[in-house]
Order: sequence, then structure tokens, then C-alpha cells
Amino acid sequence: MFKIVSKHAYSPTVFKIDITAPLIAKKRKAGQFVVLRVNEEGERFPLTIYNADPEKGTISLVFQEVGVSSSRLGKMEAGDSILDVVGPLGRPTHIKKYGTVVCIGGGIGTAPVYPIAQAMKNAGNKVISIIGARTKDLLILEQEMESVSDEIVVCTDDGTYCTQGFTSDLLKSVIKRGEKIELVVTIGPVPMMKAIVGITKEHKIPTLVSLNPLMVDATGMCGVCRVTVGKETKFACVDGPEFDGHQVDFDELIKRLRIYFDQERSAFERYKSLKHDKKCECQADKLKQAQK
Ligand code: FES
Repeated sequence: MFKIVSKHAYSPTVFKIDITAPLIAKKRKAGQFVVLRVNEEGERFPLTIYNADPEKGTISLVFQEVGVSSSRLGKMEAGDSILDVVGPLGRPTHIKKYGTVVCIGGGIGTAPVYPIAQAMKNAGNKVISIIGARTKDLLILEQEMESVSDEIVVCTDDGTYCTQGFTSDLLKSVIKRGEKIELVVTIGPVPMMKAIVGITKEHKIPTLVSLNPLMVDATGMCGVCRVTVGKETKFACVDGPEFDGHQVDFDELIKRLRIYFDQERSAFERYKSLKHDKKCECQADKLKQAQK
């Protein structure tokens, strides 16, 4: 069992949890992820590791409640335990001294960008960070990103904080002022990554994206996470999650992410209509156990 040792709420739906997972904390590298199963009935879902403390033996995960599984996780508190945490999975980010690296995080995507920006900075790069969110309440980790960046610029879609606009607008400004950029790393909603890649392609700036397709086994066996990169089929769980953004077929990825949209939405609606106090769930579990 993986115990939640602390929980922090950034907003009513965005949380950070620290979990006891000593082996993962020791081995994880920037860009890697874990797969969780909250309880026996839960589905497996991936979350990128935001941070780790090998001495305390903990890893930190940041997530937003967007469906049944993430909401179940969001209901858990410090002291509760998660049934399965598997990792670290995926290939780590290739960290080296590139020169100037622009790290772009959109919404909850800022969490997985943080360890990459930190590692890039430690490798001697000049790190320019661009972070954005739909609205002020959904903007996370500004101070943390600032602490690992030479410069940070922030935007919100609705203008409730800092510049009104998109991360792609801020990237255009950085390019326009003549900054020589050797690498862009971007993680966030797929349309955002697609827009960023559109700009960097035009300016011939190498770009890494971290993809978030549906996953089941996360070991390269089921094929659910397949994505097309450079006209080849790749499995994001073992070949990624990071890929050359200029080679990714984003339209196909968007279509595949929507495959179960209706089922996911109705399951989430059903879940939200249920009562979720812990006592109630325990009673239900006991009842089920008794009926077996
Ligand atoms: S999740 Fe099954 S192959 Fe990647």
C-alpha cells in the first residue's frame, strides 16, 4: 500500500499529494510517470511524477479531478493509502546542455514541466518558462517554476492574472525579441501543444512534447496508447511519453482521446450524483464483501 503523507489543494479540483514510494523516489528521473489504481474497482491511470524526495522516500503527484478515477483520488486524504502505484515508467527526458531551453506548461501540464525545467537548469541551460491556464484559479506552481527559471512569463486565457492570452502568444513574443532558442519543451492540453509545434516548426526550433494518450497496462503490451510519430506507430508508455513534436500526428491523437468521451462523461455524471463520504463507501464495500 502506498500511503498519502500529505495533501495540498491548489483549487477545489487541483491537488498535490505526497505518497510513500521509496523505490520510485530513488529511481525516478525527469519526464517519467507512474500508473495508479486507487482501489480494487479503480481503473489504471497514469500521472507524471512532479517531484520526489529520496531521503523521505516520497513522490509528489499533481492532478486535476477530470473523471471518476482522478475524483476518487481527490477524495483521499493524508493517512489514506492507494492500492497500486507502478513506476517509474517511460523514458526519461534527455537532459544535457542545449543553450537556451523554453519550457512551456499549460494548466495541469505545468506540473510535469517543472522537473524538466529543474533538470535543464541544473545542466547549465538558460531556462525561460512560459506557463498559462484558462483562469487564475487554475494556474499552478508559478513560484516553483520561477525558482528553476532564468525568466518566467505567465498568462491566463481570460486575463484574470498576468497577460491575457495563450502560451503560444508568449512564445511568439520570446521568438520575436530575437532570443536564440535551442529547444522547446511543452506539456499541456493537446490543442496547446499542437499550436506550439506549429510555431516552432515555422522557426525550425526542435520541440519535445509529452503525450497523454489513453493507457491500460503501460508496459507496451496492450497497444492502447499508440500514437503516430513520423508516420510510425509508437507506444507512448514505453517509447515515450516524450516525442519530437514536429513528427507527431496531433489530429489522430485528439480523435483517439475522444473515443470514450461519452462513456467517460456519463460515468463521471453518475459518480458525481452519488454520495461520497468515506463512511458511506466503507459501508458499501462491506456490504459487497458480505454478498460475495
Ligand atoms: S498502455 Fe498498453 S501499450 Fe502502452
